[in-house]
Amino acid sequence: MLPAMSFSEKVVLITGGANGLGRATGARLAAAGAKVVLADIEQGPGEQAAAEIGGSFIRCDVREPEQSERAVAFATETYGGLDMALLNAGVSTGCGLDDSFDLELYRRAMAINIDGVVFGLNAAIPALRRRGGGSIVATASLAGLTAVPFDPIYAANKHAVVGLVRSAGPAYALEGIHLNGICPGFADTRIIGDFRENLESGGVPIIPVERVVDGIEALFLSDQSGVCHIVQAGMEPQEFRFRNIPGPKATEGT
Ligand SMILES: NC(=O)c1ccc[n+]([C@@H]2O[C@H](COP(=O)([O-])OP(=O)(O)OC[C@H]3O[C@@H](n4cnc5c(N)ncnc54)[C@H](O)[C@@H]3O)[C@@H](O)[C@H]2O)c1
Repeated sequence: MLPAMSFSEKVVLITGGANGLGRATGARLAAAGAKVVLADIEQGPGEQAAAEIGGSFIRCDVREPEQSERAVAFATETYGGLDMALLNAGVSTGCGLDDSFDLELYRRAMAINIDGVVFGLNAAIPALRRRGGGSIVATASLAGLTAVPFDPIYAANKHAVVGLVRSAGPAYALEGIHLNGICPGFADTRIIGDFRENLESGGVPIIPVERVVDGIEALFLSDQSGVCHIVQAGMEPQEFRFRNIPGPKATEGT
């Protein structure tokens, strides 16, 4: 079992920290005593959010690996190290398949939603290792666990984040680095802006942001690694149990 952490004096980097879930998590963790660095492509809102919580902001486009490296270096130089990272920057795609495919939007979604998490991991893990351990949460989605007919590229991105976390998490646990994924249903941020009315008229629940932050906070403090927690209306945040998936080895008799 990995030792559980608390937030007091911990240095936390949050990508996509200027708005929505990242911003709210920054506020929560700062209130719990963390030193928070918000990293985002949106400078104005990011600087304002950081000022409100007594944290720091660095402009960072997660599509570029060196910008994630720069964000980690900034956190380390500003606060002396890095203990936790929320790899959270993400977009809805605006891109379907076939007639509604758009190469530019497709590449943008892949670059932000999956490359950004990979580059964030590559940048954060060595810094956590230098601290002797730490905790990383990647913001996946319920769309990483279930079918999303209206945005299959987003579903593919988020399934990739789930696969990444599940695959890498157990290995890094051996070094005291927790790596887990959070899988919220529809939450009350601007990312659902384009289809909020459809959700509301269809009776689809929209989760308050603070409930998702509860789930992220719990996952940061968890002694697990390589798991995905779901946050959905009408249920407590909980680990999603993957069941009955055959492993790579052949079963007896096949
Ligand atoms: N709100 C939901 O319903 C919901 C549900 C499941 C998962 N998510 C995921 O939660 C994460 C946060 O989204 P949100 O709901 O808070 O939306 P949001 O739009 O409020 O926040 C997303 C943030 O990511 C930033 N960002 C976008 N492109 C970036 C880039 N290239 N580099 C750095 N930052 C960039 C944006 O500027 C913004 O601050 C995303 O990964 C999203 O896919 C959201």
